[in-house]
Amino acid sequence: MNDPANPAAWLIPKPSENRPVVAAVGGDGIGPEIVSAALTCCRAADAPIDIVEPLAEAAPLVQGAPLSESLQATLSGADAILFGAADSGPSGRHISILRYLRWGVDTYVNLRPAVRLLASAPGEAARADANLVIVRELSEGLYPGREGDLAEFQRRWPEFRDALGRPIPDSGRFALRIVTEQGARRIARYAARLAAWRKQRGYSAGHVTVVAKSNVLRQSEGMFVSICREEIEQLGGVEHSMVLVDEAARRLVACPETFDVIVTSNLFGDILSDVAAELMGGMPLAPSAGLGDGPAYFESCHGSAPDIVGQDRANPAATILSSAMMLAYLGFAEHAERLVSATVATIDAGCKTPDLGGSATTTSFTDEVCARLTA
Ligand code: IPM
Ligand code: MG
Repeated sequence: MNDPANPAAWLIPKPSENRPVVAAVGGDGIGPEIVSAALTCCRAADAPIDIVEPLAEAAPLVQGAPLSESLQATLSGADAILFGAADSGPSGRHISILRYLRWGVDTYVNLRPAVRLLASAPGEAARADANLVIVRELSEGLYPGREGDLAEFQRRWPEFRDALGRPIPDSGRFALRIVTEQGARRIARYAARLAAWRKQRGYSAGHVTVVAKSNVLRQSEGMFVSICREEIEQLGGVEHSMVLVDEAARRLVACPETFDVIVTSNLFGDILSDVAAELMGGMPLAPSAGLGDGPAYFESCHGSAPDIVGQDRANPAATILSSAMMLAYLGFAEHAERLVSATVATIDAGCKTPDLGGSATTTSFTDEVCARLTA
């Protein structure tokens, strides 16, 4: 079987016709430091990409304000975007970029692989036998923030009843969790294609696990599950099963080797992917990709770590691995593989940033990865 740690196993490539343009946006907190480290590594790997850094335009961002048209044009005109981190708290200014990358550009697929990369796994949970990719639906569910006052809801929809026939409470807040047929179909189709891609290349056995809470949310999750089944069966060639989300969380810890491709809704994917990150050796190593019909974006799964900004302590590994996913997506599988190998070898050789228990700086870690790439 081919090496599951090869980023070519984590997504289906979509090479562009011309030399691809990558827009690099640091974002909040340590974002600029880790993106700059990843770009240095991409350059050392001699990746045939053109990099634009619309940082000057991103700088005057005001939280909650819409992105400037020129920034939107740079992002939507790129083949791929390498994004650092967004702080969703009050001091974050770049969550609007993340929102634009997800909902403006409509990257409805969020890929989060979990494979054992390191020989020297820092986490107890890291599992040699994990070889899975979470396909998280990224455009709907609870995320677009359709919230409001229950009193207002009840005034506008007095006859609304819950599953037990009760009216909704008349004070408090609500959040709408939306599943559309189109949303379920397109994510299911991607998951099925990814499982087929992995199977054809010998990376896995070709199985999609649909993860849902259809025993409780019979209408919305029930529809998600049946549409997923339809789409997977229509593509053919891959197996599928359904696992309830609580059981899926347990199995990720107890027997991760039983998963290949997991497809699930937005919030479940957010939570399960943090659990799955432990299988890789923790959040410092977990990369991700956001894919749609337009440009794709790539970012680590971790946050913006505002407490260590500017101290040269940030671990750029997950962003470097995300840039490897980006290169694999753009069709440069060999560059991507070298980038992953150099990053993994650097950590395994003991060059670790403080979050992994070492004393390497962002700069010395990056230099070491580059030295391996150019050796
Ligand atoms: C992630 C993060 C984001 C999410 C936050 C920053 C909004 O946790 O990418 O997993 O919840 O999607
Ligand atoms: Mg998350």
